[in-house]
Amino acid sequence: MIKLISTKTEMQRYVKAHQFHSRSVAIVPTMGGLHEGHLSLIKQAADECKIVIVTIYLNPTQFAAHEDLESYPRTIEADLEKLSTQGLTQAVYMPANMYGEHHATMVKPQGVASALEGEYRPHFFTGVATIVLKLFNHVPADVAFFGEKDYQQLAVIKQMVNDLDLAIKIKAVPTARDEDGLALSSRNSYLSKEERRIAPQLYKQMQICAKRLTAGEDVTKVLEGAQNQLLQDGFASIDYFDLRDAKTLAPLVVLQKEARLFAAAHLGKTRLIDNEEIEKLCIAQ
Ligand code: PAF
Repeated sequence: MIKLISTKTEMQRYVKAHQFHSRSVAIVPTMGGLHEGHLSLIKQAADECKIVIVTIYLNPTQFAAHEDLESYPRTIEADLEKLSTQGLTQAVYMPANMYGEHHATMVKPQGVASALEGEYRPHFFTGVATIVLKLFNHVPADVAFFGEKDYQQLAVIKQMVNDLDLAIKIKAVPTARDEDGLALSSRNSYLSKEERRIAPQLYKQMQICAKRLTAGEDVTKVLEGAQNQLLQDGFASIDYFDLRDAKTLAPLVVLQKEARLFAAAHLGKTRLIDNEEIEKLCIAQ
């Protein structure tokens, strides 16, 4: 039986009680719309910790006014059903509202937050860092699990934990993909049948790029080629398709050991993002 908690005080007490009995506690923050990707985070959390707490909170501050807050999947009953079927979650934290009427303090990350998503969604990481810090205070867990699907988000959270001396460990979980390579995301539910057919081309182009780069081809040419191909395949526009250093997220013009491809592209009304290590992309082919 999953325990449902909606207040900060009860949540903090629940965590402290388990920690008092030396049970390690994991937090898996989500905005709901749960899919296999979330379940893989929970699986890893349950492998490493005794108690798994999933948070479900659709955070308004990480959406700009023109973005999809209104249409974002709200599937709470199906979410709870999935968690209960998986059987690895002890508690779900579902606060009604995380921001008081006079809330006036935000965490504004820089460094790894500045490029990529930071350029195209300037509000985004301030919203994410603020809510994640608040969730860590409401759910003072030992370990937090985040997916590599949102690799830059993961990097921003690691940076915040380090910079602000937070007493929580951050663990990364590899991206869960459909059989055709499409990275699982709550936003995939927006895709029409035709768009869903085209969507895996994003990952396909990342694999092609990885192979060409490993063969020693020119980075700029390879990345341009991939973008042109995606536009031909039916993507409306590309925000970025870049080779970056996995730690600093600085752009790379020459392939190096810790290199990663990052992509964000629009397909119809849906914005898809993906990223992967070069080495892993080559193995996956
Ligand atoms: O990745 C997400 O689902 C959200 O950005 C997070 C980390 C739950 C914060 O709202």
